[in-house]
Amino acid sequence: MTSESLLVTERDGDVLTMVLNRPKAMNALNSELMSAIEAWARSLIDDPARVVIIRGAGKHFCAGADLKPSARPKPALVQARRDAQLGGRMLRALADIPQVTIAAVHGAALGGGLCIPTACDFRVAAEDALGGYPEVNLGMNLMWHSVGYCLRLVGPAKAKRMIMLGERFDAETLKDWGLWDEVVPRADLERRSLALAESYAAQPPIAVQMIKETINQVSGALDRAILHRDADQNLLTAGSQDRQRAIAAFQSGEVVDYRGD
Ligand code: COA
Repeated sequence: MTSESLLVTERDGDVLTMVLNRPKAMNALNSELMSAIEAWARSLIDDPARVVIIRGAGKHFCAGADLKPSARPKPALVQARRDAQLGGRMLRALADIPQVTIAAVHGAALGGGLCIPTACDFRVAAEDALGGYPEVNLGMNLMWHSVGYCLRLVGPAKAKRMIMLGERFDAETLKDWGLWDEVVPRADLERRSLALAESYAAQPPIAVQMIKETINQVSGALDRAILHRDADQNLLTAGSQDRQRAIAAFQSGEVVDYRGD
């Protein structure tokens, strides 16, 4: 499959919509899709659009990291480290999009599938949206620089709860917590996202884009200094016995006895 078909774009005046287009896999993020998103996001520096909407094709926005076993041989540690940084590079590219970004979310937005909306400027969710970070239940840390994105939206206590317990939350709860900006009926998601996009597109783009950049730089000032470590933390958790136990339990449905080894 070519990277072009993994992403579909539609233009409506000043608004560009990008659709994650791996619907048979619930838009799960494999390395090809993540690389395509990163490259697309970086390409927007040359795009005249004023607002960008991101949505998902099919039943769900995005089921997160692709959990199906990869046919690729296990790389040497030096390459594994760079591979582990791909999600962070993708999220950084999304956050760095100069235009205003809006995620229009329906169905599941789990793990990396929730990280993407949190790296956008605004999030409109459908009533059926289900959000959460299940990574911890697979024995992993939350990576891709997304602790920072989540923390800034919901605050420390809710971020700890979401990331440490790995629960899945309905749309109203995440709206109350500040993660979703709006919740709308599923049938209204595209219309409302476009209306919001048109409001921002009507504003003076130079001022709007400078305001976005300033707020992102100020609010995320520590991200570059600290969050590059999350990929290395993931390599640590990936090598743990607890991770093997979590994966076995994911397949068997048994309760895990974590031992910290
Ligand atoms: N990676 C790869 N494949 C995935 C996937 C993922 N993250 N999530 C779902 N799929 C696949 C399922 O394995 C299934 O494949 P199959 O048709 O070959 O059996 C297909 O997508 C449909 O999944 P299903 O669970 O039947 O659909 P659903 O609509 O009932 O539920 C989800 C969708 C996303 C809620 C559910 O699949 C789920 O919880 N997935 C795990 C999400 C997750 O833990 N992500 C974070 C990873 S860190």
